[in-house]
Amino acid sequence: MSVIELKNITRIYKTGSVSVDALKGIDLTIQEGEFVAIMGSSGSGKSTLMNIIGCLDRPTSGNYFLNGEDVATFTKDKLARLRNQTLGFVFQAFHLLPRTTALENVELPLLYREEELSWKEIHKRAREALDIVGLSDRVEHTPNELSGGQKQRVAVARALVTRPDVLLADEPTGNLDSRTSLDLIDMLQRLNREGLTILMVTHEPEIANFAERIITLRDGLIIKDRQSVQMQASEALKNWKDVDEIEYENSVSL
Ligand SMILES: Nc1ncnc2c1ncn2[C@@H]1O[C@H](COP(=O)(O)OP(=O)(O)O)[C@@H](O)[C@H]1O
Ligand SMILES: [Mg+2]
Repeated sequence: MSVIELKNITRIYKTGSVSVDALKGIDLTIQEGEFVAIMGSSGSGKSTLMNIIGCLDRPTSGNYFLNGEDVATFTKDKLARLRNQTLGFVFQAFHLLPRTTALENVELPLLYREEELSWKEIHKRAREALDIVGLSDRVEHTPNELSGGQKQRVAVARALVTRPDVLLADEPTGNLDSRTSLDLIDMLQRLNREGLTILMVTHEPEIANFAERIITLRDGLIIKDRQSVQMQASEALKNWKDVDEIEYENSVSL
């Protein structure tokens, strides 16, 4: 089944007398279980598209069907519920609450549910999510006590704790070094194999190659949409050489 279906979506930003056509007619269908990368240079409309798919913003025209339902017909409450339960978000800049432990950051989305969960259940689910991202030993750490890669893992745990159907990630590796990026992508690939649908924005071709489908935007239009031979981050990690190792080898060969 298609999880996401966009039909001729446009988005015009109006600022004073200036208007920007950020999206000029996007047709896009995403099936359940896909791992899709969205590429394109800065200003091509990637974030605008993600915000519309994530129901954080509405299109100027066109139709958006989420799990077969027309998003335009949804009430505010239903949209809030969708953002909380059907969709999970990860951003380049992590957006974690400072001075708040990893566990509390991950618990947050569960506090906004209408269905009351017991504290015991909330703690349990948050710990499970942190376990999935490999951070069981950092639950009491605050963001400033975590590395960039660990912060992004907390952000992924927070996105997963509500058990969403779709994970939307806007440049999730943008603030990470290449080794840490690989670790994160490896984790996303694992989650995808278990059934999570993933849409990931990146401007780095090396990162896009870890998706199974690559969509390229230019000036608010899709100019390319192709299946790709998906590279496995686990394989790339096996072949990874630490800078330390390379420096050591260089010094030995000198
Ligand atoms: N809130 C906004 N108000 C006005 N213009 C915007 C806004 N957000 C984005 N834009 C413009 O829309 C275009 C697409 O932006 P964006 O979706 O952020 O691109 P990308 O994420 O690919 O870099 C750009 O020209 C940008 O300047
Ligand atoms: Mg962007």
